[in-house]
Amino acid sequence: MALRKILTEGNPSLKKTCRPYTEFGPRLWQLLDDMKETMTDANGVGLAAPQVGILRRACVVLETNVAEGEEEYFIELVNPEIIASDGEQEGGEGCLSFPGQYGIVKRPEHVVVRAMDRNGQSFEVEGHGLTARCFCHEIDHLNGVVFVDKAERMLSEEELAAQEGEE
Ligand code: NI
Repeated sequence: MALRKILTEGNPSLKKTCRPYTEFGPRLWQLLDDMKETMTDANGVGLAAPQVGILRRACVVLETNVAEGEEEYFIELVNPEIIASDGEQEGGEGCLSFPGQYGIVKRPEHVVVRAMDRNGQSFEVEGHGLTARCFCHEIDHLNGVVFVDKAERMLSEEELAAQEGEE
């Protein structure tokens, strides 16, 4: 595995619509492994292929809604699509490609995603709360959409400083 460079604001790759995977082999597996390592290294909860310069429909999300004592785990999504959503949540959102920036973004509270695994097998996975937010955020990346495009407003320096004070 290897760390990949995370592209940041202004890089044209972040605005591109990504192409689906039709082959499920070592190149994809390496990418997914590298993305998990890169995301963990950067303390993120999600990362999409275009953020590391690969214009393909793949992303990884950390499932953080786990019972006490259980480990958080990665969900690998290839060619994902949201097939159902309900509810609404409004909250702060950031992105590894926009370091230090946070905005208020409305997202569904619950989503169902259909995707393929690294071997091309179709599956469905549900997300609630932060996980639903991550699924939406990462799938947006595959369509060249970044959270700052959807944010109702960005948090000010003062609001960010106040949040950090709470942590
Ligand atoms: Ni992002």
